[in-house]
Amino acid sequence: MPYTKLQSLSVNNTDNSNLIIEELRKNEYSKLDEQQHVYLDFTGGSLFSSVQLQEHMAFLQNTILGNPHSTNPTSQLATKYVDEARNYVLNYFNAAQDYCCVFTQNASAALKIVGECYPFDSNSVFALTFDNHNSVNGIRVFAKNKGAQIKYCPVFIEDLRMNTQYIDEVLVQYKDSKNKLLAFPAQSNVSGVQHPLTLIEKAKKLGWDVLLDAAAFVPTNKLDLSQIKPDFVPISFYKIFGYPTGLGCLLIHKKALPKLQKPWFAGGTVSLVSVLADSYILANAHERFEDGTVNYQNIPAVKIGLQHIEKIGLQNIHQNVTHLTQYLLDELASLKHSNGVALVHILGPKNTINHGGTLLMNFFDSKENLLPFMDVEAKANAQNISIRTGCFCNPGIDEINNCLSTQELVQYFSTHQTGDYYDMIKELGKLRGAIRVSLGIVSIKKDADAFIQFAKSFLQ
Ligand SMILES: Cc1ncc(COP(=O)(O)O)c(C=O)c1O
Repeated sequence: MPYTKLQSLSVNNTDNSNLIIEELRKNEYSKLDEQQHVYLDFTGGSLFSSVQLQEHMAFLQNTILGNPHSTNPTSQLATKYVDEARNYVLNYFNAAQDYCCVFTQNASAALKIVGECYPFDSNSVFALTFDNHNSVNGIRVFAKNKGAQIKYCPVFIEDLRMNTQYIDEVLVQYKDSKNKLLAFPAQSNVSGVQHPLTLIEKAKKLGWDVLLDAAAFVPTNKLDLSQIKPDFVPISFYKIFGYPTGLGCLLIHKKALPKLQKPWFAGGTVSLVSVLADSYILANAHERFEDGTVNYQNIPAVKIGLQHIEKIGLQNIHQNVTHLTQYLLDELASLKHSNGVALVHILGPKNTINHGGTLLMNFFDSKENLLPFMDVEAKANAQNISIRTGCFCNPGIDEINNCLSTQELVQYFSTHQTGDYYDMIKELGKLRGAIRVSLGIVSIKKDADAFIQFAKSFLQ
């Protein structure tokens, strides 16, 4: 590659991660540019490479897999490949020694296992940060139904980081409670904030079990489970490498396994069931939680996907995303209307310290009026730019950003059997939601520049 070209690609980074990603994009993700897409929704879902797909197709063309859980040859083969993928996942996260890997449909299904099986009772507590995906928030319904206390821990409006002093107080406050579960995301799916993983050990020392939602963190960051040891870690694979969808996992620390009480049994989860005796014996470890037939044709593609990440180098993906995030932050901050009013307000951190490649923002006109996110999205759609707007299944962050009060929210819910986001906006007379731009595996400077150009079209 000529030197001038290398220079033009550089985004203030001293490593060559951007060049590796540019090459990858050209060779294995060419359809993005061929179809002139600007893809900025990697937190929604990552993209797969053509090579990854070809490898899995070739595997399926040449391999006959039968339903696992049997001794016939095709069944045994399926079991072998599923186990191979399972071990690959465990090794990828340095978790082989301490964790078991339960394949699920996605991160939400992994979270549901925790919600359903955690032994909540009237003496237990479910503590969680305001910053959580709804699939974590939803666990509170299981907890509440069993009489547990729910404790939400706030984040600061200035930078959307957790109030660690508040959490520290919560952690000691419930010292006499049994079965205490703390849940927080390693990286916010909305603001990109990376919450302190040191909280895990602190909470564990005080008798808490910890659920670390790693779904938005692992696509661009190393999660080393030999270093930090949360009890439960939900993951969606399509968020890491795009293909296949419909597969995720729950990593469960072996010490936390006996705590989970499965409320029913299903095919594949039992070692013995009797109809006459009305009795059953559950299978051990991962088998206990994988209801029915696992996705055995697609699970081998998980190994292919993880190998793909290893070939690129997670560190290269991480560095490239970090440089591009800083570039976007700097460029967007410099956009001012002719009267000096800023066009873009970033919600959350303005730098890349403990902050992944997800940016939350709002656009304002020269009179400092908020531009409705729906209008911004409609204009982006027309230009083939995929961003995401709304509240991103994370209402806690949205309620904080838009200064909604408990009183007005309670009032709305207590007077509505049906309703939605847009109805609430109308009734409360307050805008909700924001604009999210997220970078990932094959983001390049061209994508960031396209968004900056797009933003400039709002300048007055
Ligand atoms: C942090 C986080 N947790 C959980 C989920 C739920 O993932 P899925 O929809 O794949 O179940 C998401 C999805 O965006 C997420 O970002």
